[in-house]
Amino acid sequence: MQGIPQPGRTEVLQLPRVHISRHPVMAHKMTLLRNKETPAAQFYRLVKEIGSLLAYEATAGLALREKTIETPLEQMQGYKLAGGIGITPILRAGLGLAEGFREVLHDVQIWHLGLRRDERTLQALEYYNQLPHKVDLQICYAVDPMLATGGSAIDAVNILKAKGIQRISFVCIIAAPYGLLKLSEAHPDIDIYIAALDERLNDQGYIVPGLGDAGDRQFGTF
Ligand code: PRP
Ligand code: URA
Repeated sequence: MQGIPQPGRTEVLQLPRVHISRHPVMAHKMTLLRNKETPAAQFYRLVKEIGSLLAYEATAGLALREKTIETPLEQMQGYKLAGGIGITPILRAGLGLAEGFREVLHDVQIWHLGLRRDERTLQALEYYNQLPHKVDLQICYAVDPMLATGGSAIDAVNILKAKGIQRISFVCIIAAPYGLLKLSEAHPDIDIYIAALDERLNDQGYIVPGLGDAGDRQFGTF
């Protein structure tokens, strides 16, 4: 990122479809997650828990269908989610977040998508794709803890759109202003849910202050 101008936080705070968590429990867990002393097992557990909190926020606008049930006392009109839900974890760091989503939404399809960022060029390369042939969902959530340059997220949404998914949300733990702006410009029709908006990318394309490498910290591969 050397020599590439980056927007500041204030420049992206007003982007129309960006939702930044304001929940105190999230802020508490984010501090534990960022701490370099947090061991891998706890880090993975925190990613899952943060995934569940983000799932709660990102599903607030889902459509419902009426459903009649009997309580032990009488009949009542209840609700069920209208239409299927897909979760696309961007491998490998998205796996923990997807697990957190599954704790909240049990009846989901998981569509694995492998994208690896080339650490020299910072370009994302697709290496695995388990998207089904038949697509019949009300929404698909692409989940990845880090939105850095935005390359991986933009490619993931391109791949989902090419499959014919009508409604997509991107969910991440930490975003850099640069990647957030790039993703919003490339895909202005998606909602973006994030736990924290950080300051900038360093010369190596890492988010600062960030949390380091989200994949390595979840899976202990240092
Ligand atoms: C990380 C992260 C994102 C990507 C973000 O994955 O999980 O997928 O980098 O960077 P970008 O916004 O600049 O594209 P990485 O490629 O390191 O793979 P991993 O999940 O296997 O660790
Ligand atoms: N990927 C990560 O895991 N961390 C960053 O800070 C940027 C990309």
